[in-house]
Amino acid sequence: MIRLFVGLEMPEGVRDALARLSGGLPGARWVAPENHHLTLRFIGEVDEGVAQDVDEALDLVVAPAFTLALDGLGQFGAGDKARAVWAGVRPEPALDHLRAKVESAVVRAGLAAEPRKFTPHVTLAWLSGRETPASRLGRFLEDYGLFQAGPFPVDRFVLYESVLGRQGSTYHALRHYPLGGWRPDADGA
Ligand code: 2AM
Repeated sequence: MIRLFVGLEMPEGVRDALARLSGGLPGARWVAPENHHLTLRFIGEVDEGVAQDVDEALDLVVAPAFTLALDGLGQFGAGDKARAVWAGVRPEPALDHLRAKVESAVVRAGLAAEPRKFTPHVTLAWLSGRETPASRLGRFLEDYGLFQAGPFPVDRFVLYESVLGRQGSTYHALRHYPLGGWRPDADGA
């Protein structure tokens, strides 16, 4: 079995900017800069055959390249149930378009449709609600809420393997898929 997700890489300058935010919050497990990414579609544990079908379906995705900018901060979960703090993304229709293409591809590969709304973000830290007082998280969001990074070009997306470890997960790029070009035998849409 292999644990997969589809996402976008962050360029080095953006990872550096995100890393400069990474501190000063009790109970936070900060994502290491080399692991910063934007998840387009979480797939989860699948066997090798399904992973190959997903790869083949993603290879047929045709979508334009675009530019992306990070804008502002947010959190998942409220009060002492806060689970994560993240950097948001400036609205970008081409990102939503790519996300929809990736979603149809993985469904075509046999996976169940994702029922959750897409909230594009780059996770900065996972939180432990009890150890992260809401007041400290509120202050962090106030202090850094005007965070911006980019714009930067997005000309490929990535199939990642997620490896669970004691120090948190690490993510390994398995395949890159180009955006913007025409490819023979692609989905043509
Ligand atoms: P994130 O996008 O909020 O950072 C690999 O685990 C990646 O897939 C992480 O980036 C993670 O969260 C995202 N993800 C989305 N849904 C998930 C789920 N149900 N379980 C684990 N990770 C998930």
